[in-house]
Amino acid sequence: MPQDFPELKNDLLLRALKGEEVERPPVWMMRQAGRYLPQYMKIREKYSFFERVQTPELACEITQQPIDELEPDAAILFCDILTIPKALGIDVELVKGKGPVIDNPIRTTDHAFSILSEDIPEKLDYVMDAMRLTRKELNGRVPLIGFAGAPWTLFCYMVQGEGSKNFAKAKQFLFSEPDAAQHVLKELTRATISYLKAQIEAGAQVVQLFDSWAGILGPEDFNRYAWPYLQEIAEAIDEVPLILYPKGTWYALERIGFKSGAEALGIDWTITPEYAREATRNNIVLQGNLDPSRLLGPPEEIERLTKRMIDRFGVQNYVANLGHGILPDVPVDNARRFIDTVKEYEK
Ligand code: CP3
Repeated sequence: MPQDFPELKNDLLLRALKGEEVERPPVWMMRQAGRYLPQYMKIREKYSFFERVQTPELACEITQQPIDELEPDAAILFCDILTIPKALGIDVELVKGKGPVIDNPIRTTDHAFSILSEDIPEKLDYVMDAMRLTRKELNGRVPLIGFAGAPWTLFCYMVQGEGSKNFAKAKQFLFSEPDAAQHVLKELTRATISYLKAQIEAGAQVVQLFDSWAGILGPEDFNRYAWPYLQEIAEAIDEVPLILYPKGTWYALERIGFKSGAEALGIDWTITPEYAREATRNNIVLQGNLDPSRLLGPPEEIERLTKRMIDRFGVQNYVANLGHGILPDVPVDNARRFIDTVKEYEK
């Protein structure tokens, strides 16, 4: 572990993730860097998406924008889950107004079997450079979160070739060519473990694994094609706390809470705090889960619902967050109201 980073001044998130007693829950927002911030939109006019991701000074600046503006309890590195597909030879571009577009999606078993996870940390050295620089520049204000996409979610994009509501082509490939699909999922698992370990080495103090599309699988398919890889990754990462975010998997909460090896479980807004607590019985820290669209509504409602959310989860073993990423049209003052309500919470 690197020893030469500035001392951490706000360790609330780290304490909560260890299950230690805290005075109030820590708060941050998924996708807090970029999207809704005018400061980000300015940088976006000048540089393409991957220029922003691949230039450490830009990634460092964008990561700090929400910290300067809103003062949440953690920073998350400005990057993307699609860096791994890129390193595996999948040509990902981000097209304005459309999202990810891939010229060479996986459509044949030959292509699938040719995917090999090799030298991921070296191929993604720009992420490690951005992480090191950002950790230094944050100067210990808040901990820095690293992240990766879970194998199933990455597979969705690599086969579909673009964003989708149901990822029908990805599921078609999965169900027709399960051996080739499992090969890709296994290589993605290897890649993700080495990627997260390299991020930790470069300064990430917490890591989050996004399985944003877990919920399009039925329970049995989740058990076969997503869960084993989540578990393998969570068990391999023991250097820093790991937050799992398997969106839409309400039926697996108990198992994830007891058997995943993760320190925390991110839950989406379709699950009640009571249900999540009952299923996981305080065996895992919970993170979430305000409906991100609520930040589009009246500020008084944001405050009321945020307080209610903390009342229901409880202050301990809890990280306040949204149930998914912040939406592009959220007014900055509404995001501020969310963060401030958590910071001012008193029982
Ligand atoms: O929290 C943060 O803001 C850190 C940076 C971050 C980005 N992407 C930057 C980004 C994180 C954590 C991600 C994760 C990510 N990327 C996920 C998992 C989380 C989730 O929301 O489910 C997924 C599925 C992706 C793939 C991806 N990247 C899509 C579908 C898109 C286009 C739609 C959009 O705006 O989210 C992106 C582009 C992207 N990644 C942007 C940002 C700030 C928008 C680029 C722009 O238009 O400026």
